[in-house]
Amino acid sequence: MKLVDPYNRRLNYLRISITDRCNLSCLYCSPRHQIPKLSHEDILSYEEILRLVRIGVQLGISKVRITGGEPLVRKGVHEFIQALHQVDGIRDVSLTTNGVLLKDHVNALIDAGLHRINISLDTLKPDKFKKITGLDAFDRVWEGIQRAYQGGLSPIKVNTVALRHFNDNELEDIARLSFIYPFHFRFIEYMPIGTPEAGMTSSLHTPEIKQRLTDKIGELIPVEHQLSDGPAERFRFEGAIGEIGFISAMSHHFCHTCNRLRLTASGQLRSCLLSDHQEDLKTPLRSGASDEALSAIFLKAASMKGVQHGLTADTPVRISGQMSSIGG
Ligand code: 5AD
Repeated sequence: MKLVDPYNRRLNYLRISITDRCNLSCLYCSPRHQIPKLSHEDILSYEEILRLVRIGVQLGISKVRITGGEPLVRKGVHEFIQALHQVDGIRDVSLTTNGVLLKDHVNALIDAGLHRINISLDTLKPDKFKKITGLDAFDRVWEGIQRAYQGGLSPIKVNTVALRHFNDNELEDIARLSFIYPFHFRFIEYMPIGTPEAGMTSSLHTPEIKQRLTDKIGELIPVEHQLSDGPAERFRFEGAIGEIGFISAMSHHFCHTCNRLRLTASGQLRSCLLSDHQEDLKTPLRSGASDEALSAIFLKAASMKGVQHGLTADTPVRISGQMSSIGG
């Protein structure tokens, strides 16, 4: 049996949130007041996750991404990455980080076998960084990115959530970095998930960003889409060494190519980032369920995948699960 959903999409990609804790509190992701965090016993141990990954591999999973919260705040993450690489059938392991702790982790991550990395960066201005994230850490993140580059991680993908009134005047500056660095700079439309700070809007969409970049910088030349690209539409400017990408969950559904499941830090399997439906793996896992019983839960989650998510630019529904525990 393989993970194939009712619309014949083959699911081979598992995103794994290893913690709901984060050392930042970005305005668009989590509210500034404290939301209760999971306790140590509530989150899956690395051994438990590895068992689930092995079961996933039997069902066709070959690619995993580690997310959070902020994954680098959880102890033992390097050993976990190493262990993931050793699971027969896993061909690709990647990590999404906010970069705050990256400079001190890069070498250990590379030693653990990591090849590529996604780093969130919404602004190039230290004061704005602090305003958006709550922490004065732009320089640290930038240094982390440079070290990842020097260490040879490739590609380095820089994720920028495009936010009107916050960073919309900087998107060109970020895009221009593609002339200097061979990174993929990806602009992500804001998605209404969880309970962010008030005042967040989702009204800055890809067509407008593309228009601005074209007007200010030049033609966006399409880069051929690879099957492994995921939802990003890829472009580059003439003469640039890096790329520009757009992830447009709101203005342009890319659900027909979705190949993912998400495992939350508390052991829930979610079939769609933009749906609150989830299947509990933790309870059966901890009460002695067999591999077959756990496989059946994976297959059930696959069967719950909708044809596409229900959010559009004009339907302001909110997803109540927190981004910080689902992992983006
Ligand atoms: N909408 C869009 N992107 C988001 N991210 C976090 N919250 C949101 C949101 N509400 C992004 C982060 C990170 C990735 C994992 O998800 O910036 O790059």
